[in-house]
Amino acid sequence: MVFWNPKNTGLQGARVKKAGKTAVVRALLAWYGHARRDLPWRRSQDPYRVWVSEIMLQQTQVERVRDFYDRFLERFPTVAALAAAAEHDVLRLWEGLGYYRRARQLHAAAKTIVADHAGEFPRTVAGLRSLPGIGRYTAGAIASIAFDLPEPIVEANSRRVIARLAGHEGPLGSAAGDEPIWEIAAALVPQRHPGKFNQALMDVGSLVCTPERPLCGTCPLAACCEAKRTGRVAEIPMKVARRAVKEIHETAVVVRRAGRVLVVRRGPGEWWEGLWDFPRVPKAAGAARRGIERSEVLGDLACGATRRLGTITHTVTHHRITLDVLACEADSAGRAKPGRRWVTAKALASLAMTSPGRRIVRML
Ligand code: ADE
Repeated sequence: MVFWNPKNTGLQGARVKKAGKTAVVRALLAWYGHARRDLPWRRSQDPYRVWVSEIMLQQTQVERVRDFYDRFLERFPTVAALAAAAEHDVLRLWEGLGYYRRARQLHAAAKTIVADHAGEFPRTVAGLRSLPGIGRYTAGAIASIAFDLPEPIVEANSRRVIARLAGHEGPLGSAAGDEPIWEIAAALVPQRHPGKFNQALMDVGSLVCTPERPLCGTCPLAACCEAKRTGRVAEIPMKVARRAVKEIHETAVVVRRAGRVLVVRRGPGEWWEGLWDFPRVPKAAGAARRGIERSEVLGDLACGATRRLGTITHTVTHHRITLDVLACEADSAGRAKPGRRWVTAKALASLAMTSPGRRIVRML
């Protein structure tokens, strides 16, 4: 039963035929019953737990989130506990997940929920979207998974499934490009078990309807799939050119003095804003082995000869950073400045650090 009516060229949800919708919903829910992924955030419908998982999953792979999720909830088991935490502690637990803005917004939203909503999550998409860090996708996920509201979601996996199911050929990944997918998702999501339905779409996308070599032979939606019917599975979704990777070369310096090391706080507008890191200088600015003492970052500090500790490569969005790591001894502590600290090895363990910074700590 193909649910998509290709003769109708409008993009209204009405294009989803009722019998086709029923077939899709039934097939997906039945498949989810036995094939779904066993994920820690699926053991509860507590909106707080659902929300934390969805924020972590926004830019991070499921397998990586698994490692962080239980630890975060152990430390902050309720929205009130998170609201009462120091930002520094929230960032420390987020360390390694990246995209720290998410952690700051999570913390800010927890405070708003406690201060303005008596500790209860808003129960509408509009109310959820009024909170920091909750956009269309996350609001739909919380509404459907925690509150059983028939709200759609579109993320990378379900978007591909819906595009293939509907035989939708347009470019995806932008707000305008994804709009037709949202409309189809809204038309499909059932009144009963909308959260399971949405998660089933994500799981089919992750386990079966994969970008390359999808397993159409075992797909619960194969009988409804327009791309399969018309032999276009390999062409949908349309390939869009990836942004070119930009190479960045920098030097990080571990400056030691009297049993302590120098750390600096990343400033506003920088990657990893608010997290601690070792001082860095662009390689081109003359911070090679000799002469880092004259670099702008170390400014007033006089350092002795440098020693090479190694090289780290790290990717942030479409930038690949190659970081040469040097070590030196400073002759003086230099001026005291906000955003600059001399810390012991023990104190390093509890600082919220950038991920390259944490890797350097492990090198020491
Ligand atoms: N990706 C985003 N949200 C998800 C969820 N609830 N389950 C699995 N993958 C996801």
